[in-house]
Amino acid sequence: MSPYVIAPSILSADFARLGEEVRQVVQAGADWIHFDVMDNHYVPNLTFGPMVCQALRPHAQRPDGSPVPIDVHLMVQPVDALASAFAQAGANLISFHPDASGHVHRSIQAIKSAGCQVGLVFNPAEPLDVLDWVVDDIDLILIMSVNPGFGGQSFIEGALRKIEAARKRIQASGKHIRLEVDGGIKTDNIRQVANAGADTFVAGSAIFGQPDYAAVIQAMRAALASQE
Ligand code: DX5
Ligand code: ZN
Repeated sequence: MSPYVIAPSILSADFARLGEEVRQVVQAGADWIHFDVMDNHYVPNLTFGPMVCQALRPHAQRPDGSPVPIDVHLMVQPVDALASAFAQAGANLISFHPDASGHVHRSIQAIKSAGCQVGLVFNPAEPLDVLDWVVDDIDLILIMSVNPGFGGQSFIEGALRKIEAARKRIQASGKHIRLEVDGGIKTDNIRQVANAGADTFVAGSAIFGQPDYAAVIQAMRAALASQE
């Protein structure tokens, strides 16, 4: 499998046809499905919950029947009860914002014990300091390159420096931890984001805003395969 993962965010899909949209983007070459959960409290927007995840689970599979990982990005406060509901609903990875949890270590352990991989998400103005204490416990670091809450925003350039810092921390840990970036990823900046150290790319509007999802995903893979 490619070391790079492309995770289309269904936040920008047609909500009236979500199952079909998931099937189409999987067919177009998506590695994961990114599922943005917003609660109108931690972020000023409201999307979908565990029942929608459960309904989409059978649509996120390859033609051979193997499941396509559902990458749940929780923008909710508090974290634990919904995280557990998403684990039940068929999520594979669950990421949360540390500032939304009263007990970050407990939330991490709860997600792992529910059988999911776990990630921590960092907003544009937030430091990575919490990783000093929990990097050995997590599977994924998600760097926000926009302020969470909406699709279609512009990439915040300062995120590149944070991606570099996160990559250094992963190297120092010696662990296999994915480094995901979310917000404003397009065909024309994905290579630069990879150069900074990211290996997993969320893209919402860049993919669902175009008629041919496969063409966008292929163009992203070609950019990733190209020399800088
Ligand atoms: C923002 C979400 C993102 C969003 C990305 O809060 O976490 O996943 O869907 O959308 P684009 O790719 O359009 O910036
Ligand atoms: Zn997201």
